[in-house]
Amino acid sequence: MRKYIVAGNWKMNTTVPEGVALAKEVAEKAASLPSNVELIVAPPFTHLSAVGQALKGSKVLLSAQNCADQEKGAYTGEVAAAMLASIPCQYTILGHSERRQYYGETDEKLVVKTRLALDNALKVILCVGENLKEREAGKHFDIVSAQIENVLFHFSAEDLKNIVIAYEPVWAIGTGKTATAAQAEEIHAHIRSVIAGRFGLDVAEDMTILYGGSCKPSNAKELFAEKDIDGGLIGGASLKADDFLAIASSF
Ligand code: PGA
Repeated sequence: MRKYIVAGNWKMNTTVPEGVALAKEVAEKAASLPSNVELIVAPPFTHLSAVGQALKGSKVLLSAQNCADQEKGAYTGEVAAAMLASIPCQYTILGHSERRQYYGETDEKLVVKTRLALDNALKVILCVGENLKEREAGKHFDIVSAQIENVLFHFSAEDLKNIVIAYEPVWAIGTGKTATAAQAEEIHAHIRSVIAGRFGLDVAEDMTILYGGSCKPSNAKELFAEKDIDGGLIGGASLKADDFLAIASSF
């Protein structure tokens, strides 16, 4: 069964007390959400324990924004998947375009990180998406297929049950420029067909594919109404509990 998910990527925002207050507000307001929507928040590493405590007893799940490409050891500044799992964290985002762009995240590294996350019982939100130049050159379908093939094709159909895809056109992230519902849907359908080609129709149909990039209460309904858009990965609008919850109520 395909799951509907709204995940909040807080990026490098909020202090710990601010993050805890935001998480408490989200947890409280999430109580009235229908049970078929999974709500996730992804605060910075420093917040995970305290936010995890604040979410206790609620239906909101906890995600990291990244994890290391090594198991453990002398990797100063890195955080291992096993450490995240021990918080406990249920998810980690991987391959966000900001990590690809500013921190040299490659598809090869993402294969290793995804394997480590799954081995530690963390679910993965794997981000893909083209930049403006690639879109203008009409290469968006090819770029996204390559990102899916380079990472996802290293895993089994069983592994895919614990992976969620987030399609985030880089030109729409934090810019206020949302992809139209039709633009997003054609890529989502394409991603599903690439997955179907390798893993079969049933696996592809069960896969949750999120849209991300300036998703907000005013456009979420239209996006989520598309048949291949199963929710959103929300940046800016996830920093306000009311906006985040309004998006989650848009199915
Ligand atoms: P945005 O970010 O909603 O602020 O555009 C989305 C994301 O980068 O995950």
